[in-house]
Amino acid sequence: MKQILMTGVGAYLPETILTNDDLGKFVDTDDNWIRQRTGIISRRKANPEELTSDLAVKAANQALLSSGINISDIDCIIVATTTPDCTFPSTATIVQEKLGAHNAFAFDVQAVCAGFVYALSVANGLMSAGQGSNTLVIGAETFTKLLDWSDRSTCVLFGDGAGAVVLQAEKSEEGYGIIANTLHSDGRYKDILYVDGGVSSTGTIGHVKMQGRDVFKHAVEKLAAAMDEVLHISNLTSDDIDWLVPHQANIRIINAMQKKLNLPDEKVIKTVSHHANTSAASIPLALTSGVESGQIKSGHLLALEAIGGGLSWGASLVRYGRPV
Ligand code: ACO
Repeated sequence: MKQILMTGVGAYLPETILTNDDLGKFVDTDDNWIRQRTGIISRRKANPEELTSDLAVKAANQALLSSGINISDIDCIIVATTTPDCTFPSTATIVQEKLGAHNAFAFDVQAVCAGFVYALSVANGLMSAGQGSNTLVIGAETFTKLLDWSDRSTCVLFGDGAGAVVLQAEKSEEGYGIIANTLHSDGRYKDILYVDGGVSSTGTIGHVKMQGRDVFKHAVEKLAAAMDEVLHISNLTSDDIDWLVPHQANIRIINAMQKKLNLPDEKVIKTVSHHANTSAASIPLALTSGVESGQIKSGHLLALEAIGGGLSWGASLVRYGRPV
């Protein structure tokens, strides 16, 4: 039986930094409010000519280097994004062309902020069934292009970026790689977080609309249940977790999850202060930050969780790297 190992990570953030004070110059907000309510200090913003696929390619190249695999060995590319370059083809096929990954099949996954955990779970299923031995899973967003910059209740929360992981199907020690996943959706809550545009409705792109308090309430309750589920399936407890790598939406949601799992600060990766909410990119960005800082090491048990529009949510347990 092959395990689906996570053997490399990579990330990319656009150069332009927007601080809370920068936002305060054109919308009625201030640094103190944003920090207190969200933990966000600054976010990155892609330039108009910078596409989601450009960010994805930079993150993917770093992940390939980190895993030591050649592009010609990549046989599947999955891009989780809500901000594709165009309506079609998929951003994944554009990424495939830019990377020169001619031996891969490629497609997008759309589950908004939960996109990365969805894509990871889809990759795990495909690879376990023998489709794809070396898969690139990328979360990439130019989310700032979906924002109404006059709406202070949403425009202060999001940023742009990309993160990527390499997954490899290999005969390996039991308990390594992807250990468990759970995915959930509840379309009854579609109106608390959505974009008011689309191809078959308005014919426009639209802007993000959100009832923040309702999203907050669902987030903590549903993420905690999803995490309980993956721990239960795996016969593990929160004491076994080396790192919680949560979706970086809001420091208060992250802290609430940390408390529910009874984890100390030393076991939680927090990047929301300088990334803001990068939707599907947020987990692989945080993961890469943890690996590059030397906090996450091969053999560590990672707990990943995310929730977003839909509502859609999920959680995964992954033992990082390869057994030595
Ligand atoms: N600056 C200053 N004041 C603001 C701002 C702002 N940027 N935004 C809202 N306010 C004001 C409101 O107008 C309101 O004023 P009022 O009392 O005079 O009416 C007041 O602040 C409180 O507004 P609330 O929306 O009730 O503030 P809340 O404490 O709920 O915080 C927040 C808002 C940060 C959005 C919070 O609800 C939240 O974090 N929700 C989670 C949503 C989230 O993270 N979404 C991201 C996408 S989904 C995901 O990734 C999980």
